[in-house]
Amino acid sequence: MAKGNSKTKILVAYASNSGNTRLTAQHIAERLNDHGFTVTVSDVARMRPADLRGYDVIVLGSCTWSRFVDGNELEAQLPEHMHRFVESSEHTRLPNARFAIFALGRHEYNGFAGAANHLMLFVRKLGGQLMLQPFTIDGFPHEQWNTVDHWTDELAKTIRQPVPTA
Ligand SMILES: Cc1cc2nc3c(=O)[nH]c(=O)nc-3n(C[C@H](O)[C@H](O)[C@H](O)COP(=O)(O)O)c2cc1C
Repeated sequence: MAKGNSKTKILVAYASNSGNTRLTAQHIAERLNDHGFTVTVSDVARMRPADLRGYDVIVLGSCTWSRFVDGNELEAQLPEHMHRFVESSEHTRLPNARFAIFALGRHEYNGFAGAANHLMLFVRKLGGQLMLQPFTIDGFPHEQWNTVDHWTDELAKTIRQPVPTA
C-alpha cells in the first residue's frame, strides 16, 4: 500500500441511527490510517461546527432516513442529528478543506441514499471542494467491504495528488 503523508489530517464525521454508518466510518478510517494518514473519527451528535476546523480532508458519512418536514414524512432525508448539525453550521466556511461523502441507504426506498445529495449541498455551503463523486452503499456494509475498500483506496490516491491551485 502506497503511504500517504501522516501530516495530512483527516476527519471522518458520521451520523448513524442503527450502526451501519458508524461501522463504515470506522472501517474507512482504519483503511486511511493504513495508508499512512492521521485520522480522527467522530459522531456528529457529539460535535459542534467549530470541530470541523483544522483538517485537510473531511469525510462526511450519513445514513438516509425519513424526517417530518412541515408535517409530512419525507424519505431520502438526513437523520435528525445530521440535519441539526448541518443547520447549526450555517455560518461555518471551510474554503481550504477538501471533502468526500459516503451515504448509506436501501434501494427499496424512494430516493435511494438521498443523504448524499444533502451532504453535497452542505459541502457547497461550507465552500469546500468535493474530491470524488459520493459513494453510496445499498444494504449492509459488512457484506461489501471490498467495495468500500476500493472507494477508500481511490480517495487515498486523490488525497496524495497535489492540490490544484485556483
Ligand atoms: C425509518 C427508516 C427510514 C429509511 N429511509 C430511507 C430512505 O429514505 N432512503 C434510503 O435509501 N434508505 C432509507 N433507509 C435505510 C437506511 O438508510 C439503511 O438501513 C442504513 O444502512 C441505515 O444506516 P445506520 O445503521 O447507520 O442508521 C431507512 C431506514 C429506516 C429504518
